[in-house]
Amino acid sequence: MLEHLDRLPPDPILGVMTAFRADTDPRKVDLGVGVFRDDAGETPIMRAVREAEQELIARQKTKTYVAAVGNAGFNEAMAQLVLGQGHAALASGRLRTIQAPGGCGALRLGAELIRAAAPDAVVHVSTPTWANHVPLLSNCGLKLERYPYFNSATGGVAFDAMLGALDRLPPRSVVLLHASCHNPTGADLDDAQWRELLALVRRRSLLPFIDIAYQGLGRGVAEDAYGPRLFCAELPEVLVAVSCSKNFGLYRERTGALHVLSATPAAADAAISQLMRIARGLYSMPPDHGAAIVHGILTGERLRSSWEGELDAMRLRIQQLRAAALKALAAACRAKDFGYIARQRGMFSYLGVDLQAVRELRERHQVSMMDDSRINLAGLRMDNIECFAQAVAKVAG
Ligand code: LMR
Repeated sequence: MLEHLDRLPPDPILGVMTAFRADTDPRKVDLGVGVFRDDAGETPIMRAVREAEQELIARQKTKTYVAAVGNAGFNEAMAQLVLGQGHAALASGRLRTIQAPGGCGALRLGAELIRAAAPDAVVHVSTPTWANHVPLLSNCGLKLERYPYFNSATGGVAFDAMLGALDRLPPRSVVLLHASCHNPTGADLDDAQWRELLALVRRRSLLPFIDIAYQGLGRGVAEDAYGPRLFCAELPEVLVAVSCSKNFGLYRERTGALHVLSATPAAADAAISQLMRIARGLYSMPPDHGAAIVHGILTGERLRSSWEGELDAMRLRIQQLRAAALKALAAACRAKDFGYIARQRGMFSYLGVDLQAVRELRERHQVSMMDDSRINLAGLRMDNIECFAQAVAKVAG
């Protein structure tokens, strides 16, 4: 029965990660998969995570099941982290949270909930968007469409084109938005643009589904959540998928959450009951370890302030790498304007070179990146930026 299955190509992001790991050249530079790296090229376990983990191991007496919604304390702490303490939605009785296996799990749960509510709903994603948004949102049967987002000439958001397209959508269309550190472009909405978008979403009765996977790695913890905080304060219904992979460095622990804001407390109860049923049918219950660690960090004063300090340092490192990459690229490739690299946020930017140049960078210069030339700036080191810029100059002038 299985012998007729087609062999599929590798995943666009994980395939690059696997190929990079197989390369034994010591000069290799990994700008592929989106993980934070320090100046030694490592993805360290954060000190706060290490300590919370040790406390957890000392304290934990059982491995019995937690609950269908996961760790209630984690869910509450994640709602406060994303929305900020004292946010009106927290006390409204309209917000429910389910722990999820990573941000991916949260996106898939949200998609399934939308399908349960409106099987014909269409989800609109930005052009471009993170490659894995496509299967996560559409594999449950929802239709996907695209709206313009990125202006490659400026490296910023094509905001008028975006608003123009969204303004033509029928009511109850779902719009997938990146809260901050847009993946793959690094081009974010500013606060005024979020407010303008809010007015449009309200006027056209659209359902915002916000993906927040890099909170704290762009402008700051509160600043990166400006969009979700605003929308959850002003709209009747919002979905927010949260990932702890990057800002807690918990990648393999698959830690995330889905927040659902509904129009009434009764509708919120119905939504969470649906989500528990959906999760039960997909994977039953989420993994506990990462969520228990995050709970320990966010609810312990000392660990929280240690985590915030480490996160600040990670953000600063990314900003410094952006500035250094711009300086080196500007000096090495005089024909191209890379100024956008310093204006964009988070780990990703497009290098803006074609597939042939990407292949040459990989094969002749051991610089690994996505086929579309997305680079993870956090994969650079201060001591190889110059080499990287020289390699770019050789392939793209
Ligand atoms: C990325 O975009 O590289 C990360 O979010 C990792 C992944 O799962 O794709």
